[in-house]
Amino acid sequence: MGSIAAIVAEIAEEMRGHEHRGKVADYIPPLACVPDSKFGMAVVLHDGTVHVAGDADEPFSIQSISKVFALTLALGAVGDQLWARVGREPSGSAFNSIVQLETEHGIPRNPFINAGAIVVCDVLLGRLQPREAIGQMLRFVRMVAGHEGIVIDEAVARAEQDTGFRNMALANYMRAFGNVHAPVELVLGTYFHFCALSMSCRQLALAGRYLMDDGRTEGHSVISARRARRINALMMSCGHYDNSGDFAYRIGLPGKSGVGGGILAVAPGIASIAVWSPGLNPSGNSHLGQLALERLVHRTGWSVF
Ligand code: DON
Repeated sequence: MGSIAAIVAEIAEEMRGHEHRGKVADYIPPLACVPDSKFGMAVVLHDGTVHVAGDADEPFSIQSISKVFALTLALGAVGDQLWARVGREPSGSAFNSIVQLETEHGIPRNPFINAGAIVVCDVLLGRLQPREAIGQMLRFVRMVAGHEGIVIDEAVARAEQDTGFRNMALANYMRAFGNVHAPVELVLGTYFHFCALSMSCRQLALAGRYLMDDGRTEGHSVISARRARRINALMMSCGHYDNSGDFAYRIGLPGKSGVGGGILAVAPGIASIAVWSPGLNPSGNSHLGQLALERLVHRTGWSVF
């Protein structure tokens, strides 16, 4: 195996010239403006060394990757009681699907599909006002990334609000089942602000250190080792929606994607990895991001299997 620095640089170079780049999400207008030529990668090793390549320092909309941080906060707030309101099984459906909710009594399959993340936001609002929950999220990601400059892109949050008809349907439907308690507009306002977090690959990979290192960041405990293992298990089984099985097969790491084209992947005990390329595959996951991760695990042997 070559050095990690050389492998990261090599993969970024391969991705730069790649012809098939997927399709940039256009259902949230500000995301549609991001050029598909972008590619960034950051790898933070267990010893703290950071290797970056390409557009690794350019902030992008982390979108559904925020669902990992929201889950971490909700488990911190209510512990395992969360699982009375959201499941832990892959959905096999699109990230914004509503169909299972009808026969499954408004209980979403997992916290990483939109319906599940909306319930997670509602759980946080059981104790906090939306402004406080958003503030808590910002403090959390700044703390775990060690970067005070991380912000929420208000233009993205507003655009989500203006176009989020499916999310409104999901939240209202779950409210009808009694699984959303706070007013729907407050829950969605919180959810949209979480999705609109703007981070670079470097910041995201640094933020993922607690999942790589048994719940610790720079030696400080963020969550318990058991909780970190369980969040990783959910990322492996549910982190890529109806594409989760294929991601596990090809890459073999816990990972979470977002429609901004980012993926956070974790090699437990070894590395926290972030990739970004805005072109998506049909399931809404970064096409080149997955390819880059596939090449990384192939060249390093980091698959957990
Ligand atoms: O709820 C939405 O539609 C987006 N704000 C987040 C979706 C997302 O990132 C799903 N990802 N692949």
